[in-house]
Amino acid sequence: MSWLSDGYQVFGPDPEVLHWLQSAGPAALAAARDPGHRADWLRHGGTWFAGVNVLDNDGEGRVADGVPLRGAALRAAEAVTGALPLDPGQVSVTYPGYPRQDENESDANHRYRRTRAAAHLDGLLPVGPDRRRMLKEPHAWILGLPVTDCGAGAAPLVVWKGSHEVMRTRLEAVFAQHPKEEWSDLDLTDAYHAARREVFETCPRVELPAKPGEATLLHRLVLHGVAPWHEGAEAPAEGRAIVYFRPHLPGGMPDWLHLP
Ligand SMILES: [Fe+2]
Repeated sequence: MSWLSDGYQVFGPDPEVLHWLQSAGPAALAAARDPGHRADWLRHGGTWFAGVNVLDNDGEGRVADGVPLRGAALRAAEAVTGALPLDPGQVSVTYPGYPRQDENESDANHRYRRTRAAAHLDGLLPVGPDRRRMLKEPHAWILGLPVTDCGAGAAPLVVWKGSHEVMRTRLEAVFAQHPKEEWSDLDLTDAYHAARREVFETCPRVELPAKPGEATLLHRLVLHGVAPWHEGAEAPAEGRAIVYFRPHLPGGMPDWLHLP
C-alpha cells in the first residue's frame, strides 16, 4: 500500500524522526503550554489546542539548535512535489473529553464533529457570511509527527481510505468548466458536499493512532478528521500532541488537482 493509492501512509518508527523530536518535541509541548497561544487556540471547551503555526521551526523543520527533519515519510512526500520549505508547524493537542461543545458552536456542527470526526479537506476555506467553500490554500501534503505516547483511543487522526480520488474527480468536474484564473474564487461547496457524501458511503473510515518516531503522511486531497476521545484512553498529562507540516504547493491549484 502507499499514500498515493490509499491517501495516507504511516511510516516508521524512524530513527531520523526520533532524532528530530529530541528538540522539536519539547518545543512543541512548550508552545502548547504558552498562555498566549492557549488564549488564541483552545477550542471545544478546552479539549483541543489547535495551535496553527505555533512551532518556531525553520524551512527544514529545525527547532532551536536541533536537527533538520528527515526520514522516509518526508522523502516519499518530496518524491512527488520536490523539496519544499516547511511552514511553521501546527501543534495539535487533544485532551480527555474531546470534543466538548463550544458555546458558539451549533448543535449540527458539534454532532458532525462527534459522528463524522469533523471530516474535512484542508485548504477549502469557508468564505463570506454564507461560508461558501473555496480553494484558498493549495497545500502539497500533510505530514503528522506524533509527540506524545498515547493509547489508540486518544482522539486519533481519522482518514477515509481512497477518498482523495473521489474528491479529485468531483472537484475536477467543477474546475474544468472555468479558466484557471477563476479557480480560487470558484464556489466548490456543492461539489465538496456531494463528494463527502460519496466518501462516507463508499470509502472505509480508518483510525490512525501513531507513536512518537512514526510519521503519518496524508495526501492533500484526502478527507480526514479527528476521532472523539475514547473514555479511559491512555495519555500523558500533556495530552495527545502531534506536529503537522502542510507546506505550500508552488505549482498552485493546477498541481493541487493533478499531481499524483
Ligand atoms: Fe485538516
